[in-house]
Amino acid sequence: EKGGYDYFMLKEIAEQPHAVAETLLGRLNEHGDLLLDEVRLSDQDLRDVDKVFIVACGTAYHSGMVAKYAIEHWTRIPCEVELASEFRYRDPVLDRSTLVVAISQSGETMDTLMALRHAKEQKARVLAICNTNGSTIPRESDAVLYTHAGPEIAVASTKAFLTQLVACYLVGLHLAQVRGVKYADEVAAVVAQLQEMPKKVEQVLSTMEPIRELARELAEAKSVLFIGRHVSYPVALEGALKLKELAYMHAEGFAAGELKHGPIALIDKGTPVVCVVPSPRGRGVLHDKVVSNIQEVRARGARTIVIAEEGDTAVAPYADHLFYVPVTPTLLAPLVTTVPLQVLACEIAAARGHDVDQPRNLAKSVTVE
Ligand code: F6R
Repeated sequence: EKGGYDYFMLKEIAEQPHAVAETLLGRLNEHGDLLLDEVRLSDQDLRDVDKVFIVACGTAYHSGMVAKYAIEHWTRIPCEVELASEFRYRDPVLDRSTLVVAISQSGETMDTLMALRHAKEQKARVLAICNTNGSTIPRESDAVLYTHAGPEIAVASTKAFLTQLVACYLVGLHLAQVRGVKYADEVAAVVAQLQEMPKKVEQVLSTMEPIRELARELAEAKSVLFIGRHVSYPVALEGALKLKELAYMHAEGFAAGELKHGPIALIDKGTPVVCVVPSPRGRGVLHDKVVSNIQEVRARGARTIVIAEEGDTAVAPYADHLFYVPVTPTLLAPLVTTVPLQVLACEIAAARGHDVDQPRNLAKSVTVE
């Protein structure tokens, strides 16, 4: 049932190109309008939205962090991302023109469900992004977009994360289209870029052998740090979360620009630092800033493990290990840059002799608050 893989997690990582393609399937109608799955909200309701809140936990929360960049960029509606477990306890400002997007693989996470119920009590509209048909969160929502990742068995989320990203991009585009900020041809152009992603994820998967070798070398590390900026910041957080939960190692993700405000003190001789570098084409300034962040940590003894875009030679002199991912539009890059970090965590955990599919103290679905 593991399809020849040692772990469900490896199988699910390998299924990601298919999962992404399935989630994209049939989303545009003949007029170029984006289609969600269940919509009990009118276009007018969506035009009235003046604020978006995304609520989710863990890995799903990281997909929400990426979504914020895309949604604000495409729709110009302010968007906040909040841990579902914190949301209702701080009395957030919500009303009928607020759209709350709840992201959950299982659809049963109690923290996310309670955040959703709180939002509904305050008359907010609720849209669910979910991987489980008919589960509680989509049942209680006004609109649903299903991710078609297929069942995820390994406790650590992988393919669900990539499909959550896709779903978030689609929600952002849909909002922009309904509100008239983006037109059918622009939406179709981004959808076409998204259609390229399964192939790119496949390409990344075919180059993972050096990551496996590196994982064996890092198995004894005391701590691994992850840095990124912009959409690569949540990718850094996701890489660190995977490593914590699977390998039981200290791992932490940082916004690269924050290092100098404290965390750089953690860097010691040989500290592995995984650096997720933005495309040098997209927001060029940002790329150069990350490269100088990498120089800074390396000057303090870090062993730099760099994930960069193919053709990015500027970063090469500062990379102890360099892994290239295919050229990808900036906002979509997490779909490719996350993959090596999933493989790295999985292989480090395996090298340390842990049960990758069933990490200690964790359950697949967290139905208590
Ligand atoms: C991490 C992981 C968890 C879940 C989180 C939310 O690998 O799997 O962090 O992402 O518990 O679960 P769902 O998406 O089912 O609400």
